[in-house]
Amino acid sequence: MPDTTIRRVAARRVWDSRGRPTVEAEIETASGALGRAIAPAGASTGSGEALDRRDGGTAFGGLDVQGALAAVRREIAPMLRGRDCADQAGVDAALIALDGTAGKTRLGGNATIAVSMAAAHAAAAAHGMALWRWIAGDAPDQGPVRMPLPEIQIFGGGAHADARVDLQDFMVVCPAAHSFAEALDWTAEIYRAAGALMAESGRRQGIADEGGWWPVFAGNEEAMATLVTAIERAGFRPGEQVAIALDVAASQFGRAGTYRPRLDARSYASAEWARTVEGWVARYPIVSVEDPMAEDDPAGMAGVTAAIGGRALVVGDDFLVTSADRVAAAAAGGACTAALIKPNQAGTLTETKSALDAARAAGWKTIVSARSGETEDVTIVHLAVGWQADQLKVGSFARSERMAKWNEALRIEEGLGDRARFDGRSV
Ligand code: PGA
Ligand code: ZN
Repeated sequence: MPDTTIRRVAARRVWDSRGRPTVEAEIETASGALGRAIAPAGASTGSGEALDRRDGGTAFGGLDVQGALAAVRREIAPMLRGRDCADQAGVDAALIALDGTAGKTRLGGNATIAVSMAAAHAAAAAHGMALWRWIAGDAPDQGPVRMPLPEIQIFGGGAHADARVDLQDFMVVCPAAHSFAEALDWTAEIYRAAGALMAESGRRQGIADEGGWWPVFAGNEEAMATLVTAIERAGFRPGEQVAIALDVAASQFGRAGTYRPRLDARSYASAEWARTVEGWVARYPIVSVEDPMAEDDPAGMAGVTAAIGGRALVVGDDFLVTSADRVAAAAAGGACTAALIKPNQAGTLTETKSALDAARAAGWKTIVSARSGETEDVTIVHLAVGWQADQLKVGSFARSERMAKWNEALRIEEGLGDRARFDGRSV
C-alpha cells in the first residue's frame, strides 16, 4: 500500500474562464504522489451556498482570493499535515470542524472544496488509479460502469448573458444516443445548426458565459422554438432522439412570490409563473426543468412538481444548494424530482456525496454540474462517473474549460471499452 500520509498542502492563485482569480490547492503525499484541484465559481448563486470567499477592495473588482489562499496556507495546511488523504471523510470532517460555520464563511468554501478535491486526487494518484475509480470506492475492476447523460447548453441566457433573455440555459439531451461519445456527436451537429440559424437571421453575436450562442431573441419561447428547429435541421427527431432541458434559474427574477422576467412587460404571481412554465413543457419537447421557481418559493416548486413531475424532471439547484438537509426537506414537501450536485455549493466532497445520497434515497435523479466560472479542472467528470450520477452538466459545446470536461468523459468511456454503459432513456 502506498503511504498516503499528507506531507505538503499548498495553494496558489490561478485564473478562471472569465478572467477572475480562483484557488488551486495542491497536496503531496509521503509517497510523492501529487493531487491538484481548482475551485470553480458561480454567477447565479443560491443564497444557501458555501461562501465563495473574496477579498473585496479594489484589486480585480474585489474578487481576489488572498484570504482563501491564506486560510489554506496558514490554517488548513498545518492541520492536515500528517493526516491520511485516503481518508476523505476524515479530511473533510477536519475541514468542517476547523471552519466551524454552517456556510464555510470563516475559511471560505472555495478554500475547502479545492483542498477536499485535491486530497481525492492525491489519494488516487498514490494508488495509481484514475480518480473516478478511486471515487467509486471498491468499484470492481470488471463489470459495467454507467456513463452519465450529458446535458449541454445551446443558448445561454440569464445571468450568463446580461439577462438578454430571462432563462439561463436552453440545453439539449440525447436520450436515444447509444454512447456518451455519440451524444456529443449529435450535440455538436445541433450546436452548429443553431449557430447557422442565428447567422442566417443576422443574429449571431458570439457566445455567452458558458459557450452557448448569445440569445438574440424577442422572447424566451422563441429560443425554445429555435432550438427545436436546430434539432430538426441537424437531422434529429425532437422529443424522440433529442430533447430540450431548461434551467430557468428563477431566483434571478423571482422573489417573495412575484416573478418579474425582464422580457415580459408584466409581473407574475407564483401560480401564474408556474402555469407559464407548465405551458412550455406542454408545447415543447422538454424533459427537464431546473429551478422553475425561486429559491424562496417551496410551495411553487411543489406545485410545479405536481403538475409536470410525471413528464419532466424538476431539478433543484439554487433551491437545494447541494445540501442533504434541503434535499430531504424538499422531498418531504413534494418539491423536485432531481438534484443538481455542485461540489462548491457544499464545500467538501463528503457533504456533496451526502446530498447526492439524499437525492437517491428520495428516488430522484442526480445531475453533477460545473459552474459558470470554470477552469481546466475536470474533477466533476470523475465524480459523475465514480458516483454513477445520472447526468453531467458542464455548459455548452465550446470553450476549453467546457470541452476539457467533455473530452475527459470521452477518455473515460473509451478506457472502459465494453464495460461502458449508456442509457439516455432511463435518465
Ligand atoms: P452558475 O450557473 O454556475 O452561474 O450558478 C450554473 C447553473 O445555474 O446551473
Ligand atoms: Zn442552475
